[in-house]
Amino acid sequence: MKFQDKVAIVTGGASGMGYEMVRLFTEEGGKAVIADLNEKLGQEVEDAFRAEGKEVTFIKTDIGSEESIKSMIDATVEKYGKLNVLCNNAGVGIGRNVVDERPEDIQLMFNVNIKGVLFCCKYAIPYMLKNGAEGGAIVNTASNLSLVASHDIATYTATKGAVASITRQIAYDYGAFNIRVNAICPGDTRTTLFKNWLATKENPKEIEDALLARYPMKRFSEPVEQAKAAMFLASDDASFITGQVLAVDGGMTIW
Ligand SMILES: NC(=O)c1ccc[n+]([C@@H]2O[C@H](COP(=O)([O-])OP(=O)(O)OC[C@H]3O[C@@H](n4cnc5c(N)ncnc54)[C@H](O)[C@@H]3O)[C@@H](O)[C@H]2O)c1
Repeated sequence: MKFQDKVAIVTGGASGMGYEMVRLFTEEGGKAVIADLNEKLGQEVEDAFRAEGKEVTFIKTDIGSEESIKSMIDATVEKYGKLNVLCNNAGVGIGRNVVDERPEDIQLMFNVNIKGVLFCCKYAIPYMLKNGAEGGAIVNTASNLSLVASHDIATYTATKGAVASITRQIAYDYGAFNIRVNAICPGDTRTTLFKNWLATKENPKEIEDALLARYPMKRFSEPVEQAKAAMFLASDDASFITGQVLAVDGGMTIW
């Protein structure tokens, strides 16, 4: 059991990749907090995992709010006594070119995708430092768009580039305390976020085909493929890996 007696927070854990992270973490003996804005889904997911005998707690959290983040992290440690793993996975993806971006969407994406990651680290790391030599692991969900450009998606791409920089910087600052920080860069994955983004386009089929043409493996990712990479980075199997930004994208960014 890779995560026996370990405690994780997965932001955006009620759906998509985050849901799969919670599933894999608890299958390996860990206890997980689902920190998600979607109360209905979060509660349903908690109930379903508990019915399977897994130790999961849903805490309604807005990753765009510093107060909400702090209170969720304090509540996690109050309930489970410690914090070993933080998956900064919640994200908002609204896609427009820079001229058409709406100021409120820019604000939202900066708040959730960048400030949310920083505030989660700010309030989680002091608890990880209390673990002493055991340290901790942070896994950020960045994006293939941390590495390359795509179609009409200016602000999102900027925020995910920032997540890659945050990953390297915090890894640098906390490596000496055995707190490892890594990121996955998912390729396109048919989650709610992806479907909602595609639905805003006038020509979704054309865009989907153009995207697929960029994948040497000629398919999109499944959420569990992202979660497996995240759980590898969160586990002791990756004990000497830190500051890395790992493309999990079927080769989309190699050419
Ligand atoms: N799906 C893709 O193609 C793709 C590609 C690259 C990166 N990503 C990134 O993967 C991560 C997970 O997204 P997903 O694709 O699994 O989508 P998803 O829509 O299935 O899940 C996202 C979850 O985040 C939650 N969330 C959104 N805003 C929140 C907030 N302010 N506070 C708390 N929770 C919030 C949602 O309620 C949802 O449960 C995101 O960071 C996204 O940017 C997705």
